[in-house]
Amino acid sequence: MKVKILQALREAGGYISGQQLCEQLGVSRTAVWKAIKQLKEAGYDIDSVPNKGYCFRNAPDLLNANELMSRRRTAWIGGRLECFEVIGSTNTIAMQMAEEGAPHGTLVVADRQDNGKGRRGRSWVLPAGVAIAMSIVLKPGELHPGNAPMLTLVSALAVVRAIRERTGIDAMIKWPNDIVIDGKKVCGILTEMSTQMDFINHIVVGIGINVHNDGFPEELRERATSLFLVSGRHYNRAELTEAVCEYFEYYYEIFMSTEDMSVLLEEYDSYLANAGRRVRVLDPREAYDGLAKGISGRGELLVETETGLKKVDSGEVSVRGIYGYV
Ligand code: BTN
Repeated sequence: MKVKILQALREAGGYISGQQLCEQLGVSRTAVWKAIKQLKEAGYDIDSVPNKGYCFRNAPDLLNANELMSRRRTAWIGGRLECFEVIGSTNTIAMQMAEEGAPHGTLVVADRQDNGKGRRGRSWVLPAGVAIAMSIVLKPGELHPGNAPMLTLVSALAVVRAIRERTGIDAMIKWPNDIVIDGKKVCGILTEMSTQMDFINHIVVGIGINVHNDGFPEELRERATSLFLVSGRHYNRAELTEAVCEYFEYYYEIFMSTEDMSVLLEEYDSYLANAGRRVRVLDPREAYDGLAKGISGRGELLVETETGLKKVDSGEVSVRGIYGYV
Protein backbone atom coordinates (compact mmCIF):
# COMPACT_ATOMS: atom_id res chain seq x y z
CA MET A 1 0.00 0.00 0.00
CA LYS A 2 2.74 2.51 0.96
CA VAL A 3 4.71 1.46 -2.10
CA LYS A 4 1.68 2.17 -4.31
CA ILE A 5 1.10 5.55 -2.66
CA LEU A 6 4.73 6.53 -3.09
CA GLN A 7 4.60 5.46 -6.73
CA ALA A 8 1.41 7.45 -7.36
CA LEU A 9 2.77 10.54 -5.59
CA ARG A 10 6.05 10.39 -7.51
CA GLU A 11 4.31 9.83 -10.84
CA ALA A 12 1.88 12.70 -10.24
CA GLY A 13 4.79 15.16 -10.30
CA GLY A 14 2.59 17.71 -8.47
CA TYR A 15 -0.63 17.65 -6.47
CA ILE A 16 -2.86 14.62 -6.58
CA SER A 17 -6.17 14.62 -4.75
CA GLY A 18 -7.07 12.16 -2.00
CA GLN A 19 -10.01 11.08 -4.15
CA GLN A 20 -7.76 10.28 -7.12
CA LEU A 21 -5.43 8.29 -4.89
CA CYS A 22 -8.36 6.28 -3.48
CA GLU A 23 -9.67 5.49 -6.96
CA GLN A 24 -6.24 4.63 -8.35
CA LEU A 25 -5.40 2.37 -5.45
CA GLY A 26 -8.89 1.02 -4.78
CA VAL A 27 -8.77 1.85 -1.06
CA SER A 28 -10.67 4.15 1.32
CA ARG A 29 -9.78 7.79 2.01
CA THR A 30 -8.98 6.89 5.60
CA ALA A 31 -6.53 4.25 4.45
CA VAL A 32 -4.80 6.78 2.19
CA TRP A 33 -4.71 9.37 4.98
CA LYS A 34 -3.30 6.85 7.45
CA ALA A 35 -0.59 5.65 5.06
CA ILE A 36 0.45 9.22 4.26
CA LYS A 37 0.60 10.03 7.96
CA GLN A 38 2.91 7.06 8.50
CA LEU A 39 5.09 8.07 5.56
CA LYS A 40 5.43 11.58 7.01
CA GLU A 41 6.38 10.08 10.35
CA ALA A 42 9.06 8.03 8.57
CA GLY A 43 10.57 11.27 7.27
CA TYR A 44 8.86 11.79 3.89
CA ASP A 45 8.20 15.39 3.01
CA ILE A 46 4.64 15.36 1.63
CA ASP A 47 2.48 18.48 1.40
CA SER A 48 -1.19 18.07 2.29
CA VAL A 49 -3.36 20.99 1.19
CA PRO A 50 -7.16 20.96 1.65
CA ASN A 51 -9.05 20.87 -1.68
CA LYS A 52 -5.79 20.26 -3.54
CA GLY A 53 -4.54 16.99 -2.17
CA TYR A 54 -1.03 15.69 -1.65
CA CYS A 55 2.26 16.66 -3.20
CA PHE A 56 5.49 14.69 -2.89
CA ARG A 57 8.45 16.91 -2.01
CA ASN A 58 11.27 14.77 -0.77
CA ALA A 59 12.19 11.29 0.40
CA PRO A 60 14.38 10.48 3.39
CA ASP A 61 17.54 8.51 2.71
CA LEU A 62 16.13 5.11 3.59
CA LEU A 63 17.48 1.95 2.04
CA ASN A 64 14.34 -0.10 2.65
CA ALA A 65 11.74 -2.05 0.69
CA ASN A 66 9.23 0.82 0.40
CA GLU A 67 11.81 3.12 -1.09
CA LEU A 68 13.30 0.57 -3.44
CA MET A 69 10.00 -0.93 -4.61
CA SER A 70 8.39 2.45 -5.25
CA ARG A 71 11.38 3.48 -7.38
CA ARG A 72 11.75 0.19 -9.23
CA ARG A 73 11.96 0.57 -13.01
CA THR A 74 13.84 -2.63 -13.82
CA ALA A 75 12.47 -5.59 -15.73
CA TRP A 76 13.96 -8.43 -13.66
CA ILE A 77 16.35 -7.18 -11.01
CA GLY A 78 14.47 -6.77 -7.76
CA GLY A 79 11.60 -9.06 -8.82
CA ARG A 80 12.36 -10.55 -5.45
CA LEU A 81 13.72 -8.00 -3.03
CA GLU A 82 15.18 -8.70 0.42
CA CYS A 83 16.03 -5.67 2.55
CA PHE A 84 17.85 -5.88 5.86
CA GLU A 85 18.54 -3.24 8.46
CA VAL A 86 21.57 -5.22 9.61
CA ILE A 87 23.21 -8.16 7.93
CA GLY A 88 26.47 -10.11 8.10
CA SER A 89 27.10 -9.99 4.37
CA THR A 90 24.60 -9.40 1.56
CA ASN A 91 26.72 -11.69 -0.63
CA THR A 92 26.61 -14.57 1.85
CA ILE A 93 22.82 -14.30 2.21
CA ALA A 94 22.33 -13.90 -1.54
CA MET A 95 24.45 -17.04 -2.18
CA GLN A 96 22.34 -18.96 0.36
CA MET A 97 19.09 -17.71 -1.17
CA ALA A 98 20.29 -18.61 -4.66
CA GLU A 99 21.14 -22.09 -3.41
CA GLU A 100 17.65 -22.38 -1.98
CA GLY A 101 16.01 -21.44 -5.28
CA ALA A 102 15.83 -17.63 -5.28
CA PRO A 103 15.17 -16.52 -8.87
CA HIS A 104 17.45 -14.71 -11.32
CA GLY A 105 17.46 -11.03 -10.42
CA THR A 106 16.86 -11.43 -6.70
CA LEU A 107 18.20 -8.32 -4.99
CA VAL A 108 19.56 -8.29 -1.44
CA VAL A 109 20.18 -4.89 0.13
CA ALA A 110 21.34 -3.88 3.61
CA ASP A 111 21.63 -0.62 5.48
CA ARG A 112 24.40 -1.93 7.70
CA GLN A 113 26.82 -4.77 7.03
CA ASP A 114 28.76 -6.22 9.97
CA ASN A 115 30.69 -9.04 8.36
CA GLY A 116 30.94 -8.01 4.72
CA LYS A 117 33.43 -9.59 2.37
CA GLY A 118 35.89 -7.87 0.09
CA ARG A 119 38.15 -9.33 -2.57
CA ARG A 120 41.11 -11.47 -1.59
CA GLY A 121 39.67 -12.33 1.83
CA ARG A 122 39.48 -8.73 3.01
CA SER A 123 36.53 -7.49 5.04
CA TRP A 124 34.01 -4.86 3.98
CA VAL A 125 32.16 -3.59 7.04
CA LEU A 126 29.59 -0.84 6.61
CA PRO A 127 28.03 1.13 9.46
CA ALA A 128 24.32 2.03 9.35
CA GLY A 129 23.07 4.81 7.12
CA VAL A 130 26.20 5.67 5.16
CA ALA A 131 26.72 3.23 2.33
CA ILE A 132 25.06 0.87 -0.11
CA ALA A 133 25.52 -2.87 0.30
CA MET A 134 23.73 -4.73 -2.47
CA SER A 135 23.95 -8.17 -4.05
CA ILE A 136 22.29 -9.37 -7.24
CA VAL A 137 21.59 -13.06 -7.85
CA LEU A 138 22.18 -14.17 -11.44
CA LYS A 139 21.21 -17.50 -12.93
CA PRO A 140 22.50 -17.23 -16.47
CA GLY A 141 21.90 -20.85 -17.41
CA GLU A 142 23.29 -20.48 -20.91
CA LEU A 143 26.49 -18.58 -19.98
CA HIS A 144 29.72 -20.59 -20.17
CA PRO A 145 31.48 -20.55 -16.76
CA GLY A 146 34.69 -19.44 -18.45
CA ASN A 147 33.00 -16.22 -19.53
CA ALA A 148 31.49 -15.39 -16.13
CA PRO A 149 34.46 -13.42 -14.74
CA MET A 150 33.72 -10.73 -17.31
CA LEU A 151 30.48 -10.01 -15.46
CA THR A 152 32.60 -8.24 -12.94
CA LEU A 153 33.60 -5.70 -15.61
CA VAL A 154 29.96 -5.43 -16.68
CA SER A 155 29.04 -4.59 -13.07
CA ALA A 156 31.72 -1.91 -12.95
CA LEU A 157 30.27 -0.31 -16.07
CA ALA A 158 26.81 -0.27 -14.50
CA VAL A 159 28.06 1.38 -11.30
CA VAL A 160 30.20 3.97 -13.05
CA ARG A 161 27.31 4.98 -15.33
CA ALA A 162 24.86 5.14 -12.42
CA ILE A 163 27.18 7.33 -10.34
CA ARG A 164 27.96 9.61 -13.27
CA GLU A 165 24.32 10.00 -14.26
CA ARG A 166 22.86 10.53 -10.80
CA THR A 167 25.64 12.65 -9.27
CA GLY A 168 27.51 14.24 -12.16
CA ILE A 169 30.76 13.05 -10.55
CA ASP A 170 33.43 11.79 -12.97
CA ALA A 171 33.81 8.31 -11.53
CA MET A 172 36.25 6.00 -13.31
CA ILE A 173 37.05 2.28 -13.30
CA LYS A 174 40.30 0.86 -11.93
CA TRP A 175 40.56 -2.41 -13.81
CA PRO A 176 38.90 -4.79 -13.38
CA ASN A 177 36.14 -3.43 -11.17
CA ASP A 178 37.03 -0.87 -8.52
CA ILE A 179 35.26 2.42 -8.98
CA VAL A 180 37.50 5.37 -8.23
CA ILE A 181 37.15 9.11 -7.98
CA ASP A 182 40.25 11.30 -8.03
CA GLY A 183 42.33 8.15 -7.68
CA LYS A 184 40.55 6.88 -4.54
CA LYS A 185 38.21 3.91 -4.27
CA VAL A 186 34.51 4.71 -3.82
CA CYS A 187 33.07 1.30 -4.66
CA GLY A 188 34.19 -2.33 -4.59
CA ILE A 189 32.60 -5.28 -6.34
CA LEU A 190 32.84 -8.91 -5.30
CA THR A 191 31.54 -11.57 -7.68
CA GLU A 192 31.00 -15.09 -6.32
CA MET A 193 29.96 -18.11 -8.29
CA SER A 194 28.69 -21.65 -7.77
CA THR A 195 29.36 -23.95 -10.71
CA GLN A 196 29.35 -27.52 -11.88
CA MET A 197 31.83 -28.77 -14.49
CA ASP A 198 30.39 -26.75 -17.35
CA PHE A 199 27.27 -25.19 -15.87
CA ILE A 200 26.72 -22.16 -13.68
CA ASN A 201 24.35 -22.80 -10.79
CA HIS A 202 24.34 -19.15 -9.78
CA ILE A 203 26.43 -16.02 -9.54
CA VAL A 204 26.18 -13.27 -6.95
CA VAL A 205 27.44 -9.81 -7.78
CA GLY A 206 28.01 -7.82 -4.59
CA ILE A 207 28.43 -4.06 -4.79
CA GLY A 208 29.48 -1.77 -1.96
CA ILE A 209 29.34 2.00 -2.53
CA ASN A 210 30.59 4.61 -0.06
CA VAL A 211 27.95 7.33 -0.11
CA HIS A 212 27.81 9.56 2.98
CA ASN A 213 31.06 8.61 4.78
CA ASP A 214 32.67 11.76 6.15
CA GLY A 215 36.02 10.12 6.80
CA PHE A 216 37.90 6.83 6.88
CA PRO A 217 40.25 5.16 9.36
CA GLU A 218 43.90 6.16 9.05
CA GLU A 219 44.92 3.01 7.16
CA LEU A 220 42.30 3.59 4.43
CA ARG A 221 42.42 7.37 4.18
CA GLU A 222 44.90 7.48 1.31
CA ARG A 223 42.93 5.03 -0.81
CA ALA A 224 39.23 5.34 0.06
CA THR A 225 36.67 8.03 -0.56
CA SER A 226 32.91 8.57 -0.63
CA LEU A 227 30.50 10.48 -2.83
CA PHE A 228 30.07 12.96 0.01
CA LEU A 229 33.80 13.49 0.48
CA VAL A 230 34.36 14.30 -3.18
CA SER A 231 31.30 16.49 -3.72
CA GLY A 232 30.16 17.79 -0.33
CA ARG A 233 26.69 16.52 -1.22
CA HIS A 234 24.48 13.76 0.11
CA TYR A 235 22.90 11.52 -2.49
CA ASN A 236 19.87 9.32 -1.98
CA ARG A 237 21.01 5.71 -1.64
CA ALA A 238 17.78 4.13 -2.88
CA GLU A 239 17.91 6.28 -6.01
CA LEU A 240 21.50 5.23 -6.67
CA THR A 241 20.70 1.58 -6.02
CA GLU A 242 17.86 1.75 -8.52
CA ALA A 243 20.13 3.39 -11.10
CA VAL A 244 22.79 0.71 -10.64
CA CYS A 245 20.14 -1.99 -11.20
CA GLU A 246 18.82 -0.29 -14.33
CA TYR A 247 22.26 0.04 -15.86
CA PHE A 248 23.14 -3.47 -14.76
CA GLU A 249 20.22 -4.86 -16.73
CA TYR A 250 21.18 -2.76 -19.73
CA TYR A 251 24.84 -3.85 -19.86
CA TYR A 252 24.07 -7.43 -18.83
CA GLU A 253 21.77 -7.94 -21.85
CA ILE A 254 24.44 -6.56 -24.19
CA PHE A 255 27.12 -8.76 -22.60
CA MET A 256 24.93 -11.87 -22.82
CA SER A 257 24.35 -11.34 -26.54
CA THR A 258 28.05 -12.03 -27.25
CA GLU A 259 29.27 -13.49 -23.93
CA ASP A 260 32.26 -11.19 -24.06
CA MET A 261 33.24 -7.53 -23.81
CA SER A 262 33.54 -6.93 -27.56
CA VAL A 263 30.54 -4.59 -27.77
CA LEU A 264 31.24 -2.90 -24.44
CA LEU A 265 35.00 -2.60 -24.80
CA GLU A 266 35.09 0.95 -26.15
CA GLU A 267 32.75 2.28 -23.50
CA TYR A 268 34.61 0.44 -20.73
CA ASP A 269 37.92 1.88 -21.95
CA SER A 270 36.48 5.40 -21.94
CA TYR A 271 36.06 5.08 -18.15
CA LEU A 272 39.32 3.23 -17.52
CA ALA A 273 41.39 5.14 -14.97
CA ASN A 274 44.46 2.97 -15.66
CA ALA A 275 44.55 3.77 -19.36
CA GLY A 276 47.82 5.39 -20.37
CA ARG A 277 49.31 4.86 -16.89
CA ARG A 278 52.27 2.86 -15.76
CA VAL A 279 51.21 -0.19 -13.77
CA ARG A 280 52.84 -3.02 -11.90
CA VAL A 281 51.34 -6.43 -12.65
CA LEU A 282 51.62 -8.63 -9.57
CA ASP A 283 51.97 -11.90 -11.42
CA PRO A 284 52.73 -14.68 -8.88
CA ARG A 285 55.43 -16.03 -11.25
CA GLU A 286 57.14 -12.65 -11.59
CA ALA A 287 55.92 -9.09 -11.14
CA TYR A 288 56.49 -6.77 -14.07
CA ASP A 289 55.85 -3.16 -15.05
CA GLY A 290 54.27 -1.74 -18.16
CA LEU A 291 51.92 0.77 -19.68
CA ALA A 292 48.19 0.00 -19.43
CA LYS A 293 46.50 0.42 -22.80
CA GLY A 294 42.89 -0.75 -22.39
CA ILE A 295 41.02 -4.04 -22.27
CA SER A 296 40.68 -6.89 -24.73
CA GLY A 297 37.38 -8.34 -25.89
CA ARG A 298 37.83 -10.94 -23.13
CA GLY A 299 38.15 -8.25 -20.45
CA GLU A 300 41.89 -8.73 -19.97
CA LEU A 301 44.01 -5.65 -19.30
CA LEU A 302 46.40 -4.97 -22.17
CA VAL A 303 49.81 -3.96 -20.84
CA GLU A 304 52.66 -2.87 -23.05
CA THR A 305 55.95 -4.14 -21.63
CA GLU A 306 59.56 -4.16 -22.78
CA THR A 307 59.05 -7.66 -24.11
CA GLY A 308 55.79 -6.98 -25.92
CA LEU A 309 52.04 -6.66 -25.28
CA LYS A 310 50.76 -8.77 -22.39
CA LYS A 311 47.16 -9.73 -21.64
CA VAL A 312 46.45 -9.68 -17.93
CA ASP A 313 43.68 -11.92 -16.63
CA SER A 314 41.78 -10.49 -13.65
CA GLY A 315 41.27 -13.90 -12.06
CA GLU A 316 45.00 -14.55 -11.71
CA VAL A 317 46.76 -11.33 -10.89
CA SER A 318 46.22 -7.85 -9.54
CA VAL A 319 47.48 -4.60 -10.88
CA ARG A 320 48.82 -1.62 -8.94
CA GLY A 321 49.52 1.87 -10.15
CA ILE A 322 53.19 2.71 -9.93
CA TYR A 323 52.42 6.31 -8.97
CA GLY A 324 49.63 5.76 -6.44
CA TYR A 325 46.70 3.40 -6.13
CA VAL A 326 45.36 3.62 -9.70
C1 BTN B 1 36.44 -5.30 -2.88
O1 BTN B 1 37.24 -5.84 -2.11
O2 BTN B 1 36.76 -4.32 -3.53
C2 BTN B 1 35.04 -5.85 -2.99
C3 BTN B 1 34.11 -5.29 -1.96
C4 BTN B 1 32.69 -5.79 -2.12
C5 BTN B 1 31.79 -5.31 -1.02
C6 BTN B 1 30.35 -5.62 -1.27
S1 BTN B 1 29.28 -4.82 -0.12
C7 BTN B 1 27.94 -5.76 -0.67
C8 BTN B 1 28.45 -7.16 -0.92
N1 BTN B 1 28.40 -7.98 0.28
C9 BTN B 1 29.61 -8.32 0.70
O3 BTN B 1 29.85 -9.01 1.71
N2 BTN B 1 30.54 -7.81 -0.11
C10 BTN B 1 29.95 -7.09 -1.22
